[in-house]
Amino acid sequence: MKLHSSTGLQGEIHIPGDKSISHRAVMFGSVAEGKTVITNFLNGADCLSTISCFKKMGVDITVDGTNVEVNGKGFEGLQEPADILDVGNSGTTTRLILGLLAGTPFHSCLIGDESIAKRPMKRVTEPLKQMGVSIDGRDHGNFTPISIRGGSLRGITFKSNVASAQVKSAILLAGLRTEGELTSVTEPHKSRDHTERMLKSFGAEVEENGLTVSIKGGQALKAAQIEVPGDISSAAFFLAAGAIVPNSKLILRRVGINPTRSGILEVLEQMGAAIKVTEVETASFEPMADLEIQTSDLKGTTISGELIPKLIDEIPIIALMATQAEGKTIIKDAEELKVKETNRIDTVVHELKKLGADIEATEDGMIINGKKPLTGGVEVSSHGDHRIGMMLSIAACLTEKTVELGQAEAINVSYPGFFNDLARVSQ
Ligand code: S3P
Repeated sequence: MKLHSSTGLQGEIHIPGDKSISHRAVMFGSVAEGKTVITNFLNGADCLSTISCFKKMGVDITVDGTNVEVNGKGFEGLQEPADILDVGNSGTTTRLILGLLAGTPFHSCLIGDESIAKRPMKRVTEPLKQMGVSIDGRDHGNFTPISIRGGSLRGITFKSNVASAQVKSAILLAGLRTEGELTSVTEPHKSRDHTERMLKSFGAEVEENGLTVSIKGGQALKAAQIEVPGDISSAAFFLAAGAIVPNSKLILRRVGINPTRSGILEVLEQMGAAIKVTEVETASFEPMADLEIQTSDLKGTTISGELIPKLIDEIPIIALMATQAEGKTIIKDAEELKVKETNRIDTVVHELKKLGADIEATEDGMIINGKKPLTGGVEVSSHGDHRIGMMLSIAACLTEKTVELGQAEAINVSYPGFFNDLARVSQ
């Protein structure tokens, strides 16, 4: 796909629904009792993979644009799938579904695409084995294809060495299926808490105490009404674009600002961006707001420690912003980037270098020397990673010559209307 530069981005964007929350709404609705109604659902490839898996387990799900109805019949309503469950490109589907399947007395087999086949699953399959589940797969259950036979489970006290909401969620979901036992997960830093919030909306009791989350087994979920906020990880591409493309002013409506996800807003402030958060709504289970951004003089910053899990998916676009900021930006403590849809330390550094950025990979992040003009006239690739594709499309707004983006279709994973929205606000 050919990408052209922009003389400014102006207007309003209704950011599509949050990916993490959309997945969870379908999953929890599928094992709850009654009709769950979801609005502003993200119709991206990843969440559609989740829907297809639950349909194969006999759950009646109807999709009408961004409205979804899930007719759950409780955990007992799930049926043994006659076919393999295809998780596509989705790590969230793979890891959370394993947690749910842990409590089902039947056999399932998970398979995904080439990228999923490289992503480590031991972080979830090991604790699930400790809970009593029978799981196997390549490298003793570390990689797909993975087969699982659930059954009766015991509660565990698990200390995770990564701050991962997917790990935490899988264990908590399995924990729901023990016979009244307590399961708890402690993380090194707090990861996104969408599971905890949404389980409460579905009537479950979840206890949070600092970095530890606990759940008691044997609780049934009750259907809920879920309005999915706009995805801050998708909004991040337009927040960055609004800040670095000259002559820009963008308003992004009803974006989720959950504090475990909003690290990008902290970084924009640290870098000196003109960002405004207005119309804050806290009535729902997830807070949301309108975000306004305009072209700004940015300065470099350091991003590390407990901030990392709050912006892990935004690091590719933060790296691009840093190429346009005065001074040095250091990103560290972010080894987790290596096990995302691609090794995002390598893909970000490799592709931004092609465009003329001064950027170096480190063991746990990257270092960027800013205020370097981006050239163009080259071919770049998403490497099949949606967030790399969107980051490069925003980079191309700044290049003098056109940029050819390979594997642009990967963007459909989380933001199918991305190029339409970009074209609509581009001057
Ligand atoms: C997600 C958690 C994060 C994030 C991913 C979505 C979730 O992954 O990167 O895009 O929905 O729970 P980890 O749990 O691996 O940190």
